[in-house]
Amino acid sequence: MSNPHNIIWHDSSISKEARRKQNNHSSFVLWFTGLSGSGKSTVANALAQVLFDQEIRNYVLDGDNIRNGLNRDLSFSDKDRNENIRRISEVSKLFVDNGTVVLTAFISPFIQDREMAKKIVSEEEFIEIFVSCPIEECEKRDPKGLYNKARKGEIPDFTGIDSPYEEPVSPALTIHTTEQNVSECVESILHYLKKRKLI
Ligand code: PPS
Repeated sequence: MSNPHNIIWHDSSISKEARRKQNNHSSFVLWFTGLSGSGKSTVANALAQVLFDQEIRNYVLDGDNIRNGLNRDLSFSDKDRNENIRRISEVSKLFVDNGTVVLTAFISPFIQDREMAKKIVSEEEFIEIFVSCPIEECEKRDPKGLYNKARKGEIPDFTGIDSPYEEPVSPALTIHTTEQNVSECVESILHYLKKRKLI
């Protein structure tokens, strides 16, 4: 690959394996994807608490928070959503290198962008979790009143209204937030992680 800026990668003196060994657990990304209001953040944060209580080092990266800081320059155009996901993937990769379990809660509506995220993080360290919830239910919940505003034309490019959401084709796991309550969703993810001997 050409290197126009003469950037040379420095390997860390502490390896990912050494960090994992010290932490006594593996590190990977749980990539939650779903519509606004589907329950991504709620489930991710509930799971984070359970992992924390089990002394599993973890960190939640959340759409609203990241867009307040690191990605405050980005809009909701397709191009900026792509850049949003690219930066988050790079950050997630650093966390994984640090031996941390990462829980990302971004709509990440495009298959192509999630594929990019998987490539950046690495296939074996990337676990896609589809937070499935019908748009009608998300709109009924409307916790931030955003669907209401979007319907009135006050928010352009709102996912599910005038910007698409592409459902995952073969996610590692699907949780149905209309059928399972928060603890049931958390349990099903824990069950999956234990089965794969990741925790
Ligand atoms: S994306 O598509 O992955 O880049 O979006 P993300 O970074 O997860 O940000 C989603 C949150 O931003 C708020 N918001 C919008 N969502 C979708 N479309 C538009 N146009 C929009 N404008 C603002 C909204 O609160 C989303 O949060 P969640 O937690 O998903 O409800």
